[in-house]
Amino acid sequence: MNHAQVSTPLTARLSQGLQGRVRVPGDKSISHRALILAAMTVGTTRITGLLEGADVLNTGQAMRMLGAWVDREDEGVWSVQGVGVGGFRQPDATLDFGNSGTGCRLVMGAAAGCPLTVTFDGDASLRKRPMRRVLDPLERMGVRVLAVGEGGRLPLTLQGARDAIPIVYEPPAASAQLKSAVLLAGLAAPGETVVIEKEATRDHTERMLTHFGADIRVEPHGALGRRITLTGQPELVPAPIAVPADPSSAAFPMVAALITSGSDVTVEGVMMNPLRTGLFQTLREMGARIEILAARHEGGEDVADLRVRSSQLQGVDVPAARAPSMIDEYLILAVAASFAEGTTRMRGLAELRVKESDRLAATADMLRVNGVDVSIEGDDLIVNGSGRVPGGGVVATHMDHRLAMSGLVMGLASEEPVTVDDMGFVATSFPGFADMMCGLGADFS
Ligand code: S3P
Repeated sequence: MNHAQVSTPLTARLSQGLQGRVRVPGDKSISHRALILAAMTVGTTRITGLLEGADVLNTGQAMRMLGAWVDREDEGVWSVQGVGVGGFRQPDATLDFGNSGTGCRLVMGAAAGCPLTVTFDGDASLRKRPMRRVLDPLERMGVRVLAVGEGGRLPLTLQGARDAIPIVYEPPAASAQLKSAVLLAGLAAPGETVVIEKEATRDHTERMLTHFGADIRVEPHGALGRRITLTGQPELVPAPIAVPADPSSAAFPMVAALITSGSDVTVEGVMMNPLRTGLFQTLREMGARIEILAARHEGGEDVADLRVRSSQLQGVDVPAARAPSMIDEYLILAVAASFAEGTTRMRGLAELRVKESDRLAATADMLRVNGVDVSIEGDDLIVNGSGRVPGGGVVATHMDHRLAMSGLVMGLASEEPVTVDDMGFVATSFPGFADMMCGLGADFS
């Protein structure tokens, strides 16, 4: 499938001011959920703006193998004919999720309430990531684990529940993937499935379930959390989905514009869901000139055009409570912090250790090989910025798309070029990244 065989290095060099208007691809989290939930409706759903990255395409293929019709009509325009809740059929081969934890964990939940035997697998990066955390609640809901790799890892084989059991579940980590797996499994269970989050995480599953007609209630829980109650066995009704631009992808041209002097870049139609905008808040606290233009509502989400101009940034303290709203953005924030004056302390980053790579260690390494003063204390990442970055390093990307893009952005404003060892995985989330950046004036070769 999309397992890169050959590494493709790329080098970024000091660039002149970046200029222009761009639109980044559709949101990855929403794209996965659109395919999965549409496959659980009765009827046909039209999706526009779907991210056509390798991760999402693997989820689409998994839905096909489970019996849904998934067709590409045009660029970003897809139609999915669903089989209804509980209607998946026995796949005749292993479901391969490539690099994607989200696709894999969400489909485990979606398939949990069907009496099927399903084998899940992925690439070398996904095979290192913890799956026990998803298996625990799914076993309580009636799933049997027939085979599992060492330490609760892929490949693994599940037998779905004939009669799924609704549960009350408190995720041990702030994780939208865990929450979503349990809610998707709860669709097949009679009665109420409840998820209690200590800290609210991205709520795209809840919003989309409402969109497709499920009975789902979201109430505050404590200072930062939510209690989510889903009534099982609904008939999900198709409704069109327009996927907004991914704020996690917008982060790369935005930080590039901030650190490259003389830049003025507008990123259009960026999703502004408050559970996803922690990076924008943090950058503004650092002194970033980010203007929110044409704020509007599209496809069930707030979106806006973001105009970003180069800025002299200051170091800040980023509280642990902000982590769920910017969990995928710490790598690129660390790049911004490297060009800032003073210390940036990013607190409470334990979850970064179990992403596409160990992002805490890998981010520190990326900065260190480029001459930045960086350290890790417990679960905190500390960057001592001096307003300039020497560069000259080769970044080890560890099959991690966001490390590759972060390293290249760093090279646009560092004194010596920055090389990333492999661009191959960028296509998991942001096909066209290099071309789009070059269109703004980035020097990549
Ligand atoms: C995602 C949730 C986050 C995030 C991932 C996408 C999702 O993972 O890192 O890129 O779509 O639910 P966790 O839920 O494991 O924190």
